[in-house]
Amino acid sequence: MADVRNTSLETDVPATLPPGPRAPSAAQALVWALRPLGLMDRCHERYGDIFTLHVRRGRPWVFLTDPEHVKQVFTTDSELLRAGAGEANPLLVPLLGSRSVMLLDEPQHMNDRKRLLPSFHGQRMKDYGAMMSDVARAEISRWPLGEPFALWPRMQAISLEVVMRAVFEDLDSDRRERLRARVVELTDWINSPRRLALLAAFGSRTLTGNAGFRRAMSRVEAVVLEEVHERRASGMGEREDIHSMLERAHAEGGSLADEEKMRDELITMLSDGPTATSLAWVFERLLRHPEKLARLREEVLTGEEEYLDAVVKETLRLCPAVPVVMRRLAEPMRVGGYELAPETIVAPCVYLMHRRRDVYPDPLSFRPERFLTGSAGTYTWIPFGGGVRRCVAASFAQLEIKRVMQVVLSGLDLRAADSRSEGAARSSVSFTPAGGARVIATRRELAAV
Ligand code: HEM
Repeated sequence: MADVRNTSLETDVPATLPPGPRAPSAAQALVWALRPLGLMDRCHERYGDIFTLHVRRGRPWVFLTDPEHVKQVFTTDSELLRAGAGEANPLLVPLLGSRSVMLLDEPQHMNDRKRLLPSFHGQRMKDYGAMMSDVARAEISRWPLGEPFALWPRMQAISLEVVMRAVFEDLDSDRRERLRARVVELTDWINSPRRLALLAAFGSRTLTGNAGFRRAMSRVEAVVLEEVHERRASGMGEREDIHSMLERAHAEGGSLADEEKMRDELITMLSDGPTATSLAWVFERLLRHPEKLARLREEVLTGEEEYLDAVVKETLRLCPAVPVVMRRLAEPMRVGGYELAPETIVAPCVYLMHRRRDVYPDPLSFRPERFLTGSAGTYTWIPFGGGVRRCVAASFAQLEIKRVMQVVLSGLDLRAADSRSEGAARSSVSFTPAGGARVIATRRELAAV
């Protein structure tokens, strides 16, 4: 691990900040709430590869878009870089809970991460692949034919079903329906554009102080805990799902996880928004490139995955579901020639990194071919973040996107419902196609894939 502690700062070197807009923080917060992607684009153009925003009073956000600076953050000792996820997305603390792996610092973070990792390896991944294809087939058999509809909610339904089965493999149908309905109710409640803007501008108190949110959240928690209690009472058996793996890992550590901890761990896993967003984007982009769609469909029918893999990588590059990750400095740090003080937020910017012309020529074009010749760079292709906090489920998510695409492309003819590309709109955890990726489906043959 690189140790970038700037010991000289502890004595007499004054802290400095990279340049950035001078507007008052309230104004910056407003623009961040309404047009975050445009704001990042403009700042990058005007101030260069490292710039500062003042969105939350008293704590500057330093955006990093240079691969070397991003590498520095992802390889620095994680004791020095605290979880900043709550800064980037104020929804996370009230939703996931303060003891979620995403929000914990070391050493607890690493303990939690180790408990999760076995759920995303080896035979588990093979089993997930078949389950993902089954879920996709069942869902697309319900899609309308010959009329426009938005793909995003349909992809949300698939990814929710997939993650529910990965967490609790054998939920009884009544409980499964209740969990599904309540998660949808909670997600819909959060996803109103007015609430999302308030959340981005004023932070988590917008939710914690709101009775509607607390009610919707507690209805989800109640079903999750009902299942946990029942399984604990009847014995965990031989199940291999994520809940069972977590219970076993806690037991090996000497005690059962308390209820709140288990709640945070399970809700974190069930709150997968980025996969559905990425699935919506992959079709939104592909349907505007008929020659690429044709090439992919041809490949899918032969069972190969080379071009499919490139399409997925290119979508995650151009439309990253998580546009920025954040860390809070526990100690001074020197980066890009600036002396950053403790409590500063450093923000490797996925969105801007993926649009660097020197790394990705013609960056705004959708060109999966770029990933056929070169491999994705550890510090330049970062849709899943990096370092010890890199997404634990990165392989799971990519597998899911591929399996769903294979089922859709082998069973349906899709075309875009509107000729114009869709811009990006904020959703609870990321940025989705503004129209929800509207398509028209025609032929349907649900062959096994
Ligand atoms: C395309 C889909 C996905 C994308 C783009 C994505 C992106 C990310 C990113 C950028 C991070 C790092 C956050 C940070 O550094 O602060 C992360 C962490 C994490 N993700 Fe994902 N994610 C995806 C799917 C999933 C799924 C399906 C799950 C669970 C089933 C999941 C669970 C997690 C967890 C538990 C962490 C925290 C890891 C840690 O702190 O050690 N993600 N994800």
